[in-house]
Amino acid sequence: MNKRIYLSSPHMGGKEKQYIEEAFATNWIAPLGKNVNEFEKEMCLYTGRQHALALSSGTAAIHLGLRYLGVQQGDIVFCQSFTFIASCNPAVYLGANLVFIDSEKESWNMCPKALKKAYEKYPNPKAIIVVNLYGMPADYDKVIAIAKQKGTPILEDAAESLGSTYKGVHTGNFGDISVFSFNGNKIITTSGGGMAMVNDEKAKNKMLFWATQARESFPWYQHQEIGYNYRLSNICAGIGRGQLAVLDKRVEQKRAIFDRYKEAFSTIDEIEMMPEAPFSCSNRWLSCMTLKSGCKVSAMDIINMLEKNNIEARPIWKPMHTQPCFKDNDFICVEPSGSVSEDIFSRGLCLPSDTKMTMQEQDYVIELIKEMF
Ligand SMILES: Cc1ncc(COP(=O)(O)O)c(C=O)c1O
Repeated sequence: MNKRIYLSSPHMGGKEKQYIEEAFATNWIAPLGKNVNEFEKEMCLYTGRQHALALSSGTAAIHLGLRYLGVQQGDIVFCQSFTFIASCNPAVYLGANLVFIDSEKESWNMCPKALKKAYEKYPNPKAIIVVNLYGMPADYDKVIAIAKQKGTPILEDAAESLGSTYKGVHTGNFGDISVFSFNGNKIITTSGGGMAMVNDEKAKNKMLFWATQARESFPWYQHQEIGYNYRLSNICAGIGRGQLAVLDKRVEQKRAIFDRYKEAFSTIDEIEMMPEAPFSCSNRWLSCMTLKSGCKVSAMDIINMLEKNNIEARPIWKPMHTQPCFKDNDFICVEPSGSVSEDIFSRGLCLPSDTKMTMQEQDYVIELIKEMF
């Protein structure tokens, strides 16, 4: 096949251009306007959260969220190690010291036992960053119970999990502040963008203030605090509105892609697909698999073979505690056999999960992989 098969590329729903054209027609070519306001309202309606703040990226949303939670120079912040670096970079921007927490096998997300153990060494963290990896929600009942008992706020990094539910409730509802990303590879995109979700209007307004250069209400430009230029463009928000209209369809498609892999590989003993805990319904943003330990074929063998066939796959996120830039940060793990996240990283890969991929294209990917076993 000559046409490249992508990991997860933008998939327009059809209405995006209409919203963009409206922005042009009314000359709202700015980081404010009807699309921004409506996109925020529509995200609240979809997730059931009370307030939404449209921003230029998920990273910006995490930055504002952590700042709102009071994270400052020298504070300890707990963060799931198994994630993309954008989950924790904003804590570094604020001068905090990150302590990385290992994952549990069931959800691949923050291990409640490791979180509990982290408090023995660091009793007063300022915030906990919990991630919903590849769309899979963390086990929030357990994580929230620990955080509540200790009085630590949670920042839910739901960048990858829009459309997923935990015990029937949409992700984006489990953090004191929750964050989505609309980057180009996400389940829906605004080309680049993000959203902070909160229940407290005061929190939304404060983050909005910082996101628009912390301008005080004076007739002239008056500033008491330092802010950022983090608001989402009205053009990008128009793309987001069109995308949100087809989100449920995309979740269905992503889940069908995952199920087809699962079915096809069920006869290959060495392949295991990413689990789904009984309390979760994942959007299956990326279909992930692991190879049994001792398997002669490695994750990189499969990725390289697919690349030779013009198919994009990628390794699992490399845990943060193994990144050179975080070599001096502490890592808390409870598994006697070693780190769960390191183990999954060493045996895992993300398969093409593009919703524009045809059945024939997916069959082709499956056949190529099957041939290796
Ligand atoms: C887990 C996770 N957190 C945060 C982000 C940051 O989002 P953005 O790229 O919109 O800044 C991403 C995606 O890029 C992500 O996958």
